[in-house]
Amino acid sequence: MKPIVAPKEQQPTSFAFKDMTKVADILSRYPEERKQSAVMPLLDLVMRETEGQWIPEVAMEEIAKILEMPRIKVFEVATFYSMFILRPIGKNHIQCCTTTPCWLRGSADIVKACEEKLGIHIGETTSDGKFTLTEVECLGACVNAPMVQINDSYYEDLTPERMKEIIDALSAGREVPAGPQNGRKCSMAITGPTTLQDEAKKAGVA
Ligand code: FES
Repeated sequence: MKPIVAPKEQQPTSFAFKDMTKVADILSRYPEERKQSAVMPLLDLVMRETEGQWIPEVAMEEIAKILEMPRIKVFEVATFYSMFILRPIGKNHIQCCTTTPCWLRGSADIVKACEEKLGIHIGETTSDGKFTLTEVECLGACVNAPMVQINDSYYEDLTPERMKEIIDALSAGREVPAGPQNGRKCSMAITGPTTLQDEAKKAGVA
């Protein structure tokens, strides 16, 4: 899918990292001659520091300067991975997985529930800036399908009704516990562990 890049009039003209100690910490993880490997964590840091959770073009230019690499290479990385957002988005970024396992378990109804509840379609942001709705490919939690990712958390074993409740809670500023929404623990059978039962007890999940 082609990345959606913010238009010129939305792009700020300057950028500076708010917390250079975090930049230094990221750089310290890589040998000096391999510092370009820090491009992805620095792009991630930009999103976490920037109002609207996105990466402006000037921030990519700043990263290119810090890492002494051609800015086109930073652009290439940022536009390749769908987790790097290149336009301002809402406070809660709902990413609906619609790949086959989730689809077989009702992801189309989850998308519909989001669209009905929020009054927007995939790719749009609510006018109050609280929610952005995105369609994504498999997020690796198929065992608990259907699921969505909201910011850094996964919400799994969803029903349309539960999805609407989650949106209501987030809209009111309440936190919603992440993970399975039907009482399942981790990714084990709903009735509890069927194998490795002693280990599950030791780990405190059964
Ligand atoms: S298909 Fe949805 S998480 Fe894998």
